Amino acid sequence: MMAEFAQPPPPARWLLFLTVAVGGMRTEPSFAAAGDAAPPGKIAVVGAGIGGSSVAYFLQQHFGPQVQLDVYEKAVVGGRLATVTVNKQSYESGGAFFHSLNLHMEDFVQQLGLKHRREVAGKSAIFTGEQFVLEETDWYLLNLFRLWWHYGMSFLRLQMWVEEVMEKFMRIYRYQAHGYAFSHLEELLRSLGGDTFVNMTQRSVVESLLEVGVTQRFIDDVIMAILRANYGQSVLVPAFAGAMLLAGAQGNRWAVEGGNKLVCSGLLKLTKANIIHARVTTISLHSSEGKPLYQVHYENEDGPGSNFYDIVVIATQLHDSKNNITFQNFDPPIAEFPGTFHTTVTSIVHGYLNSSYFGFPDPKLFPFASVLTTEAPGLFFNSMDNICPINISNTFKRKQPQEAAVWRVHSQHPLEKQELKMLFRSYYSVQVTEWQVCPDYGSVKNLPPIILHDSLFYLNTMEWAASSMEMSAVAAKNVALLAYNRWNHDVEKIDQKDLMHKVKTEL
Ligand SMILES: Cc1cc2nc3c(=O)[nH]c(=O)nc-3n(C[C@H](O)[C@H](O)[C@H](O)COP(=O)(O)OP(=O)(O)OC[C@H]3O[C@@H](n4cnc5c(N)ncnc54)[C@H](O)[C@@H]3O)c2cc1C
Ligand SMILES: *[C@@H]1O[C@H](CO)[C@@H](O)[C@H](O)[C@H]1NC(C)=O
Ligand SMILES: *[C@@H]1O[C@H](CO)[C@@H](O)[C@H](O)[C@H]1NC(C)=O
Ligand SMILES: *[C@@H]1O[C@H](CO)[C@@H](O)[C@H](O)[C@H]1NC(C)=O
Ligand SMILES: *[C@@H]1O[C@H](CO)[C@@H](O)[C@H](O)[C@H]1NC(C)=O
Repeated sequence: MMAEFAQPPPPARWLLFLTVAVGGMRTEPSFAAAGDAAPPGKIAVVGAGIGGSSVAYFLQQHFGPQVQLDVYEKAVVGGRLATVTVNKQSYESGGAFFHSLNLHMEDFVQQLGLKHRREVAGKSAIFTGEQFVLEETDWYLLNLFRLWWHYGMSFLRLQMWVEEVMEKFMRIYRYQAHGYAFSHLEELLRSLGGDTFVNMTQRSVVESLLEVGVTQRFIDDVIMAILRANYGQSVLVPAFAGAMLLAGAQGNRWAVEGGNKLVCSGLLKLTKANIIHARVTTISLHSSEGKPLYQVHYENEDGPGSNFYDIVVIATQLHDSKNNITFQNFDPPIAEFPGTFHTTVTSIVHGYLNSSYFGFPDPKLFPFASVLTTEAPGLFFNSMDNICPINISNTFKRKQPQEAAVWRVHSQHPLEKQELKMLFRSYYSVQVTEWQVCPDYGSVKNLPPIILHDSLFYLNTMEWAASSMEMSAVAAKNVALLAYNRWNHDVEKIDQKDLMHKVKTEL
């Protein structure tokens, strides 16, 4: 599979770890038979993005197929995994790539019989608003060996730092394969990387990189450009989220043939979850025979309605007043969720690039498929890519810069007409999506809770550590295990210390 990408293989240490982790997943015991408590009757999931659809899958894996799963979705299945159509072809407009070490995503794709999309070679470069400072010789930014002589040790130190964080992070797969869950995000992070990991959600990526000896110049020229390309984030991104983003930039990226959102619809189909197209408005607490019972109130074109559940998982952001879910009868009340989300605008433009703007009067000579940017006054976009459709034939060739092509432009604000006219000589169409892309990490002091009440869980807490498809899937597995272990009063499998040692002796 990987050979199709013509990418260098991942570093050997990661490979070794990968084998161990996947091996751990395969030996997963059948939890469905292990519990002695009567299984829950009905479970609700709010949101059908990758978080909601993967938690439905994991909940069924643990509780068994007899449990009824209702998944509420107010808009479309996939959430931030979405496509837009241009000229009868579809293109990713939201979450675009994952990494080959994203083991849950890899596993879903395999289980569902989906395929990796062929990646079409194209060069990237960093634009300062006046000129290109770094041009790539190969495919994606950090494959760039020129970095070596340009920045020397900084490049190596960056790689070692990212690799160390990833290696520790990947312990989660073994813990999860052994059925261990965490009731707080801090606990989860601490068990993977000690207090350092917890601290990494509070200090900036710049601080951490300077500490390991990466130079300010490398940060300004390169790290900044990568963070900006990742939804316009700044160097203020916390170290943990930053490490995850930088790991994602290190080659080995891929996407799903036919669109990443196929993972969501596929998982929901596989679990035979009942999809209810409605907006959840309120969750209220009742009880039955000493057990909590949650009433989920919803609204759709047919008017309001409600259903009762033993377990509820919220798989969307709660800080967001647009989602607007209220909690009733809880004592103590479920507090408001502070914090704001970062907005990024994606414009999918079908048109002719104005290569003059980039200093190439002759469009035929414009060599880049991907333009990253540094922070510079007057630059009104964060990155732009000449993109390929979600389903491509073997003969597909990326459009040449002198041809009409489809470009994905990320910016902080919707592009003005004159800004579009700067980037494009002319264009046929522009489709704009304004995303609430990821948290403004600085906007909260403490990470939100995972357990809101006995059997009421909040999956998207995870995003406040780092936000990606795989992070949502990891959070989903944690919530499913947490719900299952709590249902069966299996306290040994929750918040255990010294797990590295425990999972070794359990094998
Ligand atoms: C432009 C962009 C680029 C990205 N690039 C990448 C990338 O390259 N790689 C990567 O890994 N990640 C990327 N991401 C991040 C990734 O897409 C997200 O982290 C991930 O998709 C989040 O999934 P989720 O299920 O947790 O949330 P969401 O996808 O937001 O799902 C939540 C769902 O809940 C629904 N909902 C909300 N409120 C209610 C309600 N009251 N009732 C019923 N339903 C409700 C919403 O409609 C939505 O469908 C990108 C994101 C964006 C926007
Ligand atoms: C984490 O941060 C606290 C407070 O900022 C500090 O005292 C502690 O030494 C840090 N721990 C590690 C392991 O970095
Ligand atoms: C939020 O919910 C309340 C009550 O359900 C409703 O009146 C209001 O219109 C909702 N707001 C949004 C932005 O959906
Ligand atoms: C293209 O870029 C050049 C140089 O920045 C600019 O003068 C021109 O107005 C742009 N637009 C078009 C349509 O050529
Ligand atoms: C991709 O999908 C579109 C829309 O369904 C279709 O028109 C096109 O032929 C497909 N292309 C390939 C190569 O499968």
